[in-house]
Amino acid sequence: MKHFLSINDIEHLQQAVHEAIALKKAPYQFDTLGKQKTICLLFFNNSLRTRLSTQKAAMNLGMRVMVMNFGDEGWQLEFEDGIIMDQHKAEHIKEAAQVVSQYCDIVAVRAFAELKDKQEDEAERVLRGFAKYASIPVVNMESSTAHPLQALADAITIEEHQLVERPKVVLSWAPHPKALPHAVANSFVKMMKQHQAEFVVTHPPGYDLNPEITEGCKIVYDQEEALENANFVYVKNWSSYANYGKVLQLDTSWTMTQAKLGNAQFMHCLPVRRNMVVEDAILDSKKSLVTEQANNRTFAAQLVLKRILEAF
Ligand code: CP
Repeated sequence: MKHFLSINDIEHLQQAVHEAIALKKAPYQFDTLGKQKTICLLFFNNSLRTRLSTQKAAMNLGMRVMVMNFGDEGWQLEFEDGIIMDQHKAEHIKEAAQVVSQYCDIVAVRAFAELKDKQEDEAERVLRGFAKYASIPVVNMESSTAHPLQALADAITIEEHQLVERPKVVLSWAPHPKALPHAVANSFVKMMKQHQAEFVVTHPPGYDLNPEITEGCKIVYDQEEALENANFVYVKNWSSYANYGKVLQLDTSWTMTQAKLGNAQFMHCLPVRRNMVVEDAILDSKKSLVTEQANNRTFAAQLVLKRILEAF
């Protein structure tokens, strides 16, 4: 694996999940693999889990870690080719990516969707800019359209907690006061397409994800019907894709409750808004896997970094 930009960059996902679970059991078994190798984590947006878990994963492999909050502290980047840079953007992605490549061996990038212009977000200028101009492997720590490290951690969590061979997994939209990107939901859908499961996506009309991503998936607009006999319920808000980046409604009848969850196990990538997305009683119960998902972020990142280091 050269770059890790999408969950589909992992060949044989199930094998990777088992390898990550083995790393979790013995996290320091490859602690010299990254000796004298440096990873640079560039954040254009906020983070708690991604920042700390990716750093921990790299340290478990013996790597050195540099972190930069690029959004606040870096020069504003220009992405257009051939442009006269006479406005506020001080540095071109071509130089920035090549310069970062001099200081480290792997660069990981977080750059969210702005949710203003679908075409611009789907162009993934920051992530693809680094992948194009850096001379080192690039890792996606959540881009405009994808959060593959989260999806890998979610696959690990499902594998660890599934009690039947082919569980029913439901991805349910939930209300949220702010417009949120589609990245987590997109990568979860892509991951679930490779997992042996009955998979259902449920959301109100108007919240359909990119149809190219959900192609072949069962979509149910009635949440109660979708949740019937579910083993795992993954709750996430996203803004409208068709009416790009808009919050169409705040229908709290879609908030996840204990009654609706039934016997299923609850999943969410975090951060989560209590009693808006999901009620306290679920998060404070044993049915909630959210802390375990966050823990598995370390081993998802460790698996990805290990594979990249092994390919050097
Ligand atoms: N789930 C996740 O990516 O968390 P952070 O945004 O805190 O990194």
